[in-house]
Amino acid sequence: MKRLKKITLADIPYVGRGTPAGDRFRRYWIVVSAARDLHDIPQAIKVLGDELVLFRDQTGKIGLIGAHCPHRGASLEYGDIECGGIRCPYHGWLFDVHGQCLEMPAEPKGSKFAQKVKHLSYPVREQGGLLFAYLGPNPDDPPLLPKYAALADCAGQRSLEATRVYDCNWFNFIENGADPAHFSILHRADPDDGTWRSWFFNFKDIPYFDAIETAYGMKVVSRKPGPSADTEYVDEKSFALPSILQIGDTEFTHFRQPREALSAGSHNAHFMFVTPNDDHSFTLFTVNHYTGSDPEFFQKLAPSRKAEAKAEKKPYDRRKYSPFRGNVRTEDITCQSTQPLLDRRKEQLGTSDKGVILIRRIILNAIRAVQEKRTPKGALKREQAQEMVKIDSFTGVRAKEIN
Ligand code: FES
Ligand SMILES: [Fe+2]
Repeated sequence: MKRLKKITLADIPYVGRGTPAGDRFRRYWIVVSAARDLHDIPQAIKVLGDELVLFRDQTGKIGLIGAHCPHRGASLEYGDIECGGIRCPYHGWLFDVHGQCLEMPAEPKGSKFAQKVKHLSYPVREQGGLLFAYLGPNPDDPPLLPKYAALADCAGQRSLEATRVYDCNWFNFIENGADPAHFSILHRADPDDGTWRSWFFNFKDIPYFDAIETAYGMKVVSRKPGPSADTEYVDEKSFALPSILQIGDTEFTHFRQPREALSAGSHNAHFMFVTPNDDHSFTLFTVNHYTGSDPEFFQKLAPSRKAEAKAEKKPYDRRKYSPFRGNVRTEDITCQSTQPLLDRRKEQLGTSDKGVILIRRIILNAIRAVQEKRTPKGALKREQAQEMVKIDSFTGVRAKEIN
């Protein structure tokens, strides 16, 4: 029997083909583009280290195929979309969305060579304006694409933010969502910014939190005493496999309402689908799902989405990411981009890293499941086809939990 590679925390960030963590990603559907970013020309993308080209043929079918033509390697990013597929610019080989070669104009008439050439291709599905691809084994019989409530639920309003690319490892970003301590510390610079406007996550009074495993992954639950003895303020942030974060993104934070406004809970959920391009960069697809009653919610939210630090750059400041204080996004980018791809076994973790410890354990378990040919957590079984996947997280006031 083939011996399985013994995996450790050091393996988690690396997603290339043939790596244990890369094999795990290849058991799930992952977001590769927003549908609105795909126009009438091919789009080159890198996913899990694979160089690929995404295109929509003339009938609207979407293809995701290897970037380099199997003939002599020219990039299909420059291909022409025509005759039911994409045609290589160099010698005109034509491929359909399944990677099947349909034509080779320079080959002798009657040649059957085209039928024998099948280029690398992956299945693609659309859900709620995002394009998901499955890069794993058996592409002709892929697993179910989960129905994410944030994308498939007809209730409420949805908005897709601009697609963003970050130059750091995907896992630095994911761990940040399981680390509520940093909200009170890194994001303390501006009392009007950050989750709960720095009232709840406060440097001088850091809330207690628990890390809890859930059916879809895990969540961190932070608490402070509520407005009455039997209530508490609660803030939950969730992680779903393979690489989705959901954070409460409240009316209280953005619209400067009194904290009592949250007694009925927040009505906006902020989902981040994280797709590694390779080990050094990832793409972030962000969806807001609002179920409250304000028809102009997203217009009001828009100004808060700018990633601009508040301070001026000092003339002698040569630091790459400064100024970064005073904006949640620039603060996060600065810390995550400066964490090297270090072996996580060499860190020195404290009690307040319990969320990070749990998220690593959950991902390691999923990697082991794939190694042992079991279904990893978060990948659906056939009988779950109709289930709506809810990545829940509560933000607001609720009755105190008796532990
Ligand atoms: S390199 Fe593409 S057809 Fe020749
Ligand atoms: Fe953050």
